[in-house]
Amino acid sequence: MSTEATPLRLGILLSGRGSNFLAIAQSIRERRLAGVEIAIVLSNVAEAAGITAAVQLGVPCAVLVSKGRPRTEHDADMIATLRAHKVDLVCLAGYMRLLSPGFIAAFSNRILNIHPSLLPAFPGLDAQQQTFEYGVKIAGCTVHFVDEHLDHGAIILQRTVPVLDSDDAHSLAERILAEEHIAYTEAIARVASGEYEIQGRRYLKR
Ligand code: GRF
Repeated sequence: MSTEATPLRLGILLSGRGSNFLAIAQSIRERRLAGVEIAIVLSNVAEAAGITAAVQLGVPCAVLVSKGRPRTEHDADMIATLRAHKVDLVCLAGYMRLLSPGFIAAFSNRILNIHPSLLPAFPGLDAQQQTFEYGVKIAGCTVHFVDEHLDHGAIILQRTVPVLDSDDAHSLAERILAEEHIAYTEAIARVASGEYEIQGRRYLKR
């Protein structure tokens, strides 16, 4: 899917703090993610800390405010911006807005998401809090392809975290986040390799 000559171009979508974006950027900088470059970081929230970080790093970025705009109209602008930057793979990294079917079709099987639980457990908002309150003993994170259902597409990889008796939801979320930062780089590397196939819900290495 990517070679030295033609790197895989990422479009990173975020709405907030941007630690997963920063982890991906660091992996690229430290050459742990070969054949990949960040084409653009896009936020739907003007105040997102992730955008400030992108500016500081000199990574191309843009804000397309979504508040008050119909989803399809906003998504059409997002698609146009991603295409203008020749994005091959869209990486949702704390993007707190549902994507329209048109967006998902425009990047079919080329959108990844990271979720802070072991899906299909605890989809949706506040997954770490849900995980903690349920009392499970193993928590974790999931990187998956995005389809038209929330937190649902084929799973690329998961990383686990034990839940300690001494945890609260905050300490658990911090340990899950550390695993997220490893997981996203690894998932992007696998997708960039092109050495996989998707059979129904199943992502399989070739
Ligand atoms: C992460 O927990 C991610 O799993 C979820 O949103 C959060 C984003 O965090 N989808 P950050 O903005 O990358 O720090």
